[in-house]
Amino acid sequence: MHPHCFLALLTLLTLLNAVPATRKVSAPWKEIKDLKDPYVIGIAEWGVSEYNKNVTGTNKLVFQSVTWGVSAFISGTFYELVIAAKNQSLTIPPEEYKLGVWDRFLTRLFMRLIKDDGKFV
Ligand SMILES: *[C@@H]1O[C@H](CO)[C@@H](O)[C@H](O)[C@H]1NC(C)=O
Ligand SMILES: *[C@@H]1O[C@H](CO)[C@@H](O)[C@H](O)[C@H]1NC(C)=O
Repeated sequence: MHPHCFLALLTLLTLLNAVPATRKVSAPWKEIKDLKDPYVIGIAEWGVSEYNKNVTGTNKLVFQSVTWGVSAFISGTFYELVIAAKNQSLTIPPEEYKLGVWDRFLTRLFMRLIKDDGKFV
């Protein structure tokens, strides 16, 4: 195979692997249908701002959009969102991160923010 074809194929495979639709959702998780829901966006923005509080210098993330997400009701609502965000200290385009937030009555808890590994929750 021509090396360029191989590279193109590799890129395509990488992109396909990144397609979140391949994640299987199982109970108690429910896939979030409306990724533009202002409430969901608010959760994501809140999570990123919490994360940024712990980050020094220019390594902060700038939230762009929610690309996938699930929620589960566990004494409050637990959100696991895949978000596109830009690392301010890098010149590369936005990357995907996984954000976990526990949203309870009057309190929100930041669980984690990690580079997306493509795995479900
Ligand atoms: C910030 O750092 C503190 C201390 O290491 C940790 O307990 C907390 O969970 C961190 N918060 C975020 C949003 O990463
Ligand atoms: C952003 O990029 C800097 C420099 O490479 C890195 O140290 C930091 O961990 C990155 N932030 C995230 C959230 O990946």
